[in-house]
Amino acid sequence: MRDGFGRQIDYLRISVTDRCNFRCHYCMPEQQTFLPRIELLDYAEIALLSDRFIDHGIRKIRLTGGEPLVRRDIGLLMRQLGAHVAAGRLDELTLTTNGSRLRAHADDILAANIRRINVSLDSLDADRFAKITRGGQLNEVLDGIAAVRAMGIAVRINMVALRGINEDEIVPMVRFCGDNGLDLAVIETMPLGDGVAGRTDHFIALEEFCVPLHAHWKLDSLPHRTAGPARYWQIEPLGVRLGLITPMSDNFCDDCNRLRLTTDGKIYMCLGSSLHVDLRAAIREEGVAGVDRLLQKALKLKPERHDFERQMADRSLRLARHMNATGG
Ligand code: GTP
Ligand code: 5AD
Ligand code: SF4
Repeated sequence: MRDGFGRQIDYLRISVTDRCNFRCHYCMPEQQTFLPRIELLDYAEIALLSDRFIDHGIRKIRLTGGEPLVRRDIGLLMRQLGAHVAAGRLDELTLTTNGSRLRAHADDILAANIRRINVSLDSLDADRFAKITRGGQLNEVLDGIAAVRAMGIAVRINMVALRGINEDEIVPMVRFCGDNGLDLAVIETMPLGDGVAGRTDHFIALEEFCVPLHAHWKLDSLPHRTAGPARYWQIEPLGVRLGLITPMSDNFCDDCNRLRLTTDGKIYMCLGSSLHVDLRAAIREEGVAGVDRLLQKALKLKPERHDFERQMADRSLRLARHMNATGG
């Protein structure tokens, strides 16, 4: 698959639920409404769509949410998709999770041929963590990380950079990752979704967020790339790989390889755009022929780049859709 700008599309992000047991304040308001269950794609539909996407050239699938591990029987879907990895039809199946249910699902993850996961963790202070997530328990997440690490699954921590909230934690977080054999990605906040308070105040560019690191360590640029937008640096002697995800200060859209399937079966071609096609109606009414037709349409809808800078400055341009709807 190629989009209208010649970019090859081989990475599919599937949001398996918009629900979450956390309410991270940069992601969604405290009183969030979720899709009625009837609107959701069922597992058979997700599996059928994934299969068709793989036929069209998808090589990596990432399961996201909301929180993917809160959807009932998610292990079944993970195993079904993981079979494509065993068959050589997919290079990798991965998962982005808030970590709270990791220990309970560690066996499912291993059985699904998932070999690396990303875990959101913005603070190592239990009170602060509970405030950021509005109720999350740090010990559950740390316990889950330990469980999957013990099984040999690689973990990258995702830390959203928040001015005045976790600015003082970048050095401890790097140390924690060094001590526990984890990679780390720091992420600039993106202005997605209505009713998310104070996000502009808490925005901080990564260049500034990472200043404290330079007093302790030298950062060496790495050629290493994952499927996503992070640019990596090596921090020695800790052996930590640090990924910087800079949607605001340094646009990375030129080599974007992604499309997103939402819980209710829409394909969004860009996190920063509301243009989409609706695969749910197509698959229910026309089967895979409808999917093929809409996929071609979707490829033409992919914008050249996101424009969060303008959306941050001008409230009227902001997208109403929250991060949990598209899974980041
Ligand atoms: P890797 O496969 O490990 O590279 O994962 P990833 O970084 O693609 O996935 P993850 O779910 O961990 O996302 C990390 C952050 O990157 C989240 O805040 C996402 O919203 C953001 N992100 C991922 N893809 C895009 C993208 O295409 N555009 C923008 N603006 N942000 C993205
Ligand atoms: N801006 C940047 N990252 C965000 N995430 C959730 N909301 C936002 C936002 N508004 C992050 C989560 C998770 C990843 C999928 O996206 O912390 O790690
Ligand atoms: Fe849930 Fe992730 Fe959103 Fe936090 S950022 S509320 S963990 S979906």
